[in-house]
Amino acid sequence: MRKKIVAGNWKMNTTVPEGVELAKAVVAKSAEVPADVKLIVATPFTHLCPVAQVLEGSSVSLSAENCADQEKGAYTGEVSAAMLASAGCEYTILGHSERRQYYGETDEKLVAKTRLALANGLKVILCVGEKLEEREAGKHFDVCEAQIKHVLYQFTEADMQRIVIAYEPVWAIGTGKTATAEQAEEIHAFIRKVVAGKFGAAVADDMSILYGGSCKPSNARELFAQPDIDGGLIGGAALKADDFIAIARSY
Ligand code: 13P
Repeated sequence: MRKKIVAGNWKMNTTVPEGVELAKAVVAKSAEVPADVKLIVATPFTHLCPVAQVLEGSSVSLSAENCADQEKGAYTGEVSAAMLASAGCEYTILGHSERRQYYGETDEKLVAKTRLALANGLKVILCVGEKLEEREAGKHFDVCEAQIKHVLYQFTEADMQRIVIAYEPVWAIGTGKTATAEQAEEIHAFIRKVVAGKFGAAVADDMSILYGGSCKPSNARELFAQPDIDGGLIGGAALKADDFIAIARSY
């Protein structure tokens, strides 16, 4: 059965001491969350090692927000998948729209990154989603389908067991505008169909598909109640332990 997941993407927020405090608060409250809901915190690279220590022995998993598209060597400023695994990461987010938009992340790079992440034992949270103008032009299905085909169709059925998809409409990220539960469910069901098209219904049924974009305690319950929404990738609201936990308790 597919996992229910609530993951916090801290983005470029908090200093190391602030991040450690936030992680401690999440761990302290994690017992309030139903046991079948997996909690993940995705932190900046600088925070991974100290946060890994905080999470040790808890049920909360650690994720990075990105990884390099090269294995190792002369790539100044990059952080490899092997480094992330050795720092205690179980997951890495890849293909977040902010990386696609500001840092030239292409689908080709995402194939390389996903390959390296999986080869180093990491699980991947792959983000897909359309921009506002694409939604307004009615192209959101095509955009998400292309992003999935270009990246995930390069992988095997076995790889898919270690990949989670996050649908994050760009127009809903950090804007306060959430996709309605119906809009989100419609595209989640479509994404599951696209996955089934290549890997079959059993793999698609097993795949967790998370919603991201202005998800907060007040709207999480309705979103998570949809049959094809298996949790959330939370930005702003993950920076407050109370809100993050309240979202996870919405199940
Ligand atoms: P917000 O929850 O701040 O809209 O961000 C969502 C997101 O981008 C998570 O990756």
